Amino acid sequence: MPGKRREPEERPEFLLGLVRYQREGIVRFHTPGHRGGGWTYPAWAQAVGMGCLSLDVSDVLHGEEGPADWSQVLRRAEKRAARHFGAHATRFLVNGTSGGIHAAILALAAGEKVLFSRASHLSVYAGAILAQAVPRYVDPVYDREWDIVGPPPVGELQRVCQRERPKLLVVTYPDYYGLALPGDRLAHGVGETRILADEAHGAHFLYSPQAPAPALAWGCAVSVQSTHKMLGALTQASMLHVSPKASDVVFALDRALSLLQTTSPSALLLASLEAAVMQGLENGRDEWERALALAESIREEIERSTPFHCLSPDVAASRWQAQLDPARLVIHMGDSGWTGLAAARYLRQEWKIQVELANQRAIVLLVTPGNTKADGEVLIAALRALSVRAPKKPAETLAPPPRPPQRMLPWEALRQPVQWVKFKDSVGRIASDILCPYPPGIPIAVPGEEITPEIVAYLEHVTAHGWEVRGAFDPRLRRIAVVKESGAR
Ligand SMILES: Cc1ncc(COP(=O)(O)O)c(C=O)c1O
Repeated sequence: MPGKRREPEERPEFLLGLVRYQREGIVRFHTPGHRGGGWTYPAWAQAVGMGCLSLDVSDVLHGEEGPADWSQVLRRAEKRAARHFGAHATRFLVNGTSGGIHAAILALAAGEKVLFSRASHLSVYAGAILAQAVPRYVDPVYDREWDIVGPPPVGELQRVCQRERPKLLVVTYPDYYGLALPGDRLAHGVGETRILADEAHGAHFLYSPQAPAPALAWGCAVSVQSTHKMLGALTQASMLHVSPKASDVVFALDRALSLLQTTSPSALLLASLEAAVMQGLENGRDEWERALALAESIREEIERSTPFHCLSPDVAASRWQAQLDPARLVIHMGDSGWTGLAAARYLRQEWKIQVELANQRAIVLLVTPGNTKADGEVLIAALRALSVRAPKKPAETLAPPPRPPQRMLPWEALRQPVQWVKFKDSVGRIASDILCPYPPGIPIAVPGEEITPEIVAYLEHVTAHGWEVRGAFDPRLRRIAVVKESGAR
């Protein structure tokens, strides 16, 4: 509120401390070496600006009366965030949600069984590897018409929890397409298993009753959110929230975070997290109400004046029993002849529109309070133009192959010597890479799994169509890394 003096509690104390340090003209004999931008590559300084560089400091905060305790100021900012998001404790993260997921799996399930959807983000696999955990997978529901690998059935997750009693269940909530499984139903049927919500795409759920409920509200133990994805923090800045029901895990989480995170966190990233909380406190609800109204009006206009269709709550419910994030525009290319991937290229080249994601059938765009009515108008004009320029080449989709047999645990496979083989000769060998084609973003093989003929055929199709295979050391898959000896158990 302009002009009103705030209580210290309500002020962005971390940011103000940095600004005070910057303004005092301190003679810098400390890291980082660029001296507040005084010694750096000129084109870089020009691109990011001296204001930004002079705030790039570490552990030299100034309070109103002089040097301040950086970690105490930060803890106060995290406490404010915890109150805001309804958490028992919140931690600011400087290595993205990936870092938070690694730490949470290490803290909650080292050496134990961890259950997750096969369509989980790579950071979940990495966390399970770091924690020497025993992964148990549930298969997601693939929909060929939309080329979307959606959430797995809740009943199946519950059945596996009851049968195998994993220490931890990791759920993606929501996924890249905005699909959020029914968390309240899930949480009631998992027994003692704790739930880690990968809420990378859902930090804004707090601000609107139209959105699915935040994961903390339905009973996850820990949620990790990419504040940089849907809120206003800088890229890489995320938050980990601990539920009031899981206060006993804070110590283990702090220990894991201190093992995994840098000892020189970027002040810019931390200040951007504090700023995102302040922004949410001050205007979150109003800004998101506007943003979601804009998203809705764009959806209505797409349905009204283009041949394309948007993913709707009804389709989300009937195909995946999921709720839909209203901030996402998932636009199906219908029978226009466009693949989502080709449409995304066209939108970028001809209309300077950058989408978030594309697959064979659809494109995905995110709407935040940073978007304007004019953005929506350009998008509609571009989609109309797209509809009359269709290449009439049928869009191809191919279901991912069945999950292959596991011959070793992933972390065990990574300890084995590696051999490089031609990809086409790799059938029967044990993978040492994670092979994860985008789209659809589901790992086809992870370390320790046998490479099947179906996997080779699928990935040959994928690479022939120019899709990216993430995780493989040779992204064009001429050769791949396999376990040297057949050390199968
Ligand atoms: C579902 C999901 N989880 C986790 C992550 C990792 O988030 P971050 O980029 O903040 O590390 C991503 C990133 O795209 C994601 O899509």
